This record gives sequence, C-alpha cells and structure tokens, in this order.
Amino acid sequence: MGSALFFLTLTSLKTVAKQNQLVRFRMASTAATFGLKDPSLIRTQGFVNGKWVDGEEGGKITVTNPANNAELGTVPEMTLTQTKEAIAAAADAFKSWSKTTAKHRHDLLMKLHRLMLQHHDDLGRIVTLENGKTLTEGKGESAYSASFIEWFAEEAVRTYGEQIPSSMPGIRNLVIKQPIGNGIFTPWNFPSAMITRKLGAALAAGCTSVIKPPPETPFSALALAELASRAGFPDGVINIVTTQKNVIPIGKEICESKTIRKISFTGSTPVAKLLYGIASSTMKKVSIEAGGNSPFIVFGDADIDDAVEGAVACKFRGSGQTCVCANRIYVHSSVYAEFASRLAEKVAAFKIGDGLLSDTTHGPLIHEKAISKVVKHVEDAVSKGAQILVGGKRRDGPGSFYEPTVLSDVPAGPSTFFGQEETFGPVAALIKFETEKEVIELANDTDVGLAGYFYSRDIGRIWRVAEALEVGMVGINTGIIANATVPFGGVKESGLGREGGHGINEYMQEKLLAFGGLDK
Ligand SMILES: *[C@@H]1O[C@H](CO)[C@@H](O)[C@H](O)[C@H]1NC(C)=O
Ligand SMILES: *[C@@H]1O[C@H](CO)[C@@H](O)[C@H](O)[C@H]1NC(C)=O
Repeated sequence: MGSALFFLTLTSLKTVAKQNQLVRFRMASTAATFGLKDPSLIRTQGFVNGKWVDGEEGGKITVTNPANNAELGTVPEMTLTQTKEAIAAAADAFKSWSKTTAKHRHDLLMKLHRLMLQHHDDLGRIVTLENGKTLTEGKGESAYSASFIEWFAEEAVRTYGEQIPSSMPGIRNLVIKQPIGNGIFTPWNFPSAMITRKLGAALAAGCTSVIKPPPETPFSALALAELASRAGFPDGVINIVTTQKNVIPIGKEICESKTIRKISFTGSTPVAKLLYGIASSTMKKVSIEAGGNSPFIVFGDADIDDAVEGAVACKFRGSGQTCVCANRIYVHSSVYAEFASRLAEKVAAFKIGDGLLSDTTHGPLIHEKAISKVVKHVEDAVSKGAQILVGGKRRDGPGSFYEPTVLSDVPAGPSTFFGQEETFGPVAALIKFETEKEVIELANDTDVGLAGYFYSRDIGRIWRVAEALEVGMVGINTGIIANATVPFGGVKESGLGREGGHGINEYMQEKLLAFGGLDK
C-alpha cells in the first residue's frame, strides 16, 4: 500500500518535473526579453486556484511590443472549462475569505502594497513593454496601481454599518455590509492600475475574483498575481483567465454564472452594453467604466499658460489613450489664436519613440486598429475644413506610431467624428466658441459623460459650468483629476458606479437586521 503510493507519487512527480522544466525554459526566454531585476515576475501561464496553468487545448496568445512589433512572449488561450474551474475556485475561496477579519485583509493588502513598491521599476517596465507608454508613464502607472492597494487596505477596516432608529415599537434596526463576490474585466490602456482599482476594492471588501485581462497586455496582470501569491493571498481568491479567441463565450460565462454576483468592467461602450445586457440574466450588480468624449474648455478669462499645460497633460497622456483624455478642445475666440499657437509649439517639441528610451516623450498607439481610427478622425475633420497645425500623419516604419497632432478650426458638434466618439489617440481638436451658453450645449451634446475640464478664473462661472457639465468628473483649472482617494466614473452612457474613493461599497451589499422580542 505504502510503496504503491510512493510509486504513483514518483511517476507524477517526474511528469510534473518535465512539464515544469519546459515551462521554466519558456518563462526564462520571455523573462529575458523584459530585462527585469526580478525575472520571475514574468508569468506565461494563467492563474487558477493558486496554480499556474497552460491553456487546456494548448492554444497561445502572442503578445507584442507596440513600439517595434517584436514578440514579447505568449500566454495561454484558456477555455470555457478553465473559466468554469476559475469561477468554482473563486466561489469556494469566498466561503473562507469573506469570513476573514477586515484587519487580516488590510494586513495582506499592505503586504502586497510593499511588494509592489519594492518591484516598482520592474512593474513599470512591464507596462511600458506591453503597452508602449514611456517608462516615466509606466512607472507612474505602477505607483498609481500600488496606491489603490494601499487605499483599499485602509478602507477595508472602515466598512461601518449603521444603527437606525425604529419606526415600530419593540424593534431595533441594524444595517451591516457584506461582501458580494465578483468578476473583473480590464482594458489595455492601464494594464496594472485598472486591475488594482477593482481588485483592491474587491479583496478589501472580502470578495474573491476572476479576472480577464486584455490579450494585448496580460503580463502586468500576471505579475500582480505572482506578487499577490508571494504576499500570501489564499488559493482561489485571485484567478486570472487569459483569452483572445474565446472572449465572447468566456465573458458570457462570467456574466451568466449564478455564483458570480458582481461584474466590474472597464472598456468600450459597445462591449459594456453587451456585458450589462447579459449580466441582467442573473441580476448581477454591475460597475461599468466605459468610454468618454471629454470636453476641455478654455474661457476668455483663463490663465493661458495653465490651460496649455493642462491640455498637454490631459490630451497627450498615454499618447491620448486614456478614457479621460480631452477629445474636444473648445477655446474662446478671444484667446483662440494664442492658445492654438502655444499648444502647437509644445506639441511640435514632442519626441515619439520607444518608451524605454530616455528622450522619448510619447510612445506608440497600442495597435494598427487604433491608428486607423485616428487617421479616420483626422482625414474627416480636414475634409470638413480643419487645418493641421502640427503632425497629421502616421509614422512609417516598425511600431504603431501616429504623430502628435494639433488641428485648428475643427467644426463644432457631431458633424465630425470628434463630436461623436473618442479618438483615443494623440490629436488635439481645437474648436472655436463665443458664449458660455453655447459651449455648455456643445459640451453636453454627446451620449457619454465621463470627464470634463475647463479653465476660468471667474468664481460665478466656475460654479455654473461645473454644475452644468453632464459628466462624472470635472477638472477645474487642472488637466489631471484621478487619484485613488477620489471617486472615478461617469454619467450617461459612460457607465455606472464609482471606483476609488468610497468605491469599496460597490463590492458590498447592505443587509438589514431587524431585531424584535428584545423587550421581554
Ligand atoms: C447640458 O446641455 C444641454 C444642452 O444645452 C442641456 O439640455 C442640459 O440641461 C445641460 N445639462 C445641465 C445639467 O445643465
Ligand atoms: C495622488 O496623490 C498623491 C499624494 O499627493 C500623489 O503622490 C500621487 O501622485 C497622486 N496620484 C496620481 C495618479 O496622480
């Protein structure tokens, strides 16, 4: 009996050792491509129930560097069956994770936070290599990403309930908050921070997770899972399913699963609507952060230096690929010429290139499809009378680069693509306006409402405009608004719910405890 068991163990150990050798070899070559201080942060497998796994059918997704189209490595094309396993693992882990103390979850999250800071340079480098943004931006993202883990660790211990005076004699009311359990979908434009913004809140609340990272940038997500596993998060609390081809059946499975009670999605509005629709089948709680089309308004009384600086930061961050990037820049006629020439001068000095090079100020777009959209927006506007002040074309050669561009005399309203959808590229579209009333109408004239920005020194106007803009976040005399400590999210078709700030509540539900029979 004993020896038979030994034999079995030995055989399986041998097979496992062989598989591990193969995996280690593949990981080693991929890890070398990234040039990290700690190469073991590069994981080339999915993560289910605390184990690193290959695709059940052997399929692979090739991940490339958008700065030069070179292959970075592969991750598995995982299957529906593996997704079901991940969901089952998350459900199983939820039983014990949801019962841990808030202090315990706080401590583990702070441990993860320390690990993220310790590996800050490596995490930033992974973001740069798979997304293309500059190393300064990649490291900035890695710090931003870690800040969500810290913030939600601090929130974990303050999910207070309430005692509510009763309207009925003999009753005492108590409201407690309980974790809900969840599935997470994230985009490529912030491969790390969009995960921790959701995952930090989920883990702090006592939820477990199934994460589907984008096929363009899976390595940041997998590095986070590696660090979380080093921090000591139990098996099944974090699961990562990588997929490209199976995204529809896998997304559907997560949305229709009866055990997943909450979906959190960041991505495009059409996909958000699709997931929202499917999630209704099981009445899930849904958080959505979909696209925006941010207005950026420069009034005649604005500080023009500040406005130009704000436009540069807000429009060209991540080469224009953030959902809160300015998309329609309205400038009052009295300062239009000055603003346009000063912005054009700044943009002309940008240097596009590989994000790892120290003189690069702006990186590539994520892929060819992204370039095509920018080309479409610019050509259309030019055909309708817009003037190119700087840039205006794609750059030849390897990598998906589009020149940072400033367009003047862009027609207002939905007659151009800028008025209809977000460009998600490095193009500042300048539109002239005359009155406050006119510009508010123009700014609100879209189906989405994520962020809006304006520059003015008039306190009356500041209140009027801030209240009138139909958006979830307003930057007043600033082009940068996001921080882990404040709410992030939109109105209209930009989404539902808020992340950061008190966003932990999105992962909890209130339960009323009405006590009777106490006065006997
Ligand atoms: C935004 O502008 C539209 C169009 O002018 C207007 O109907 C709407 O009332 C404005 N929204 C707010 C909140 O003032
Ligand atoms: C959030 O605020 C902190 C503290 O001022 C700052 O260090 C950090 O850079 C901010 N985060 C972002 C993403 O701007």
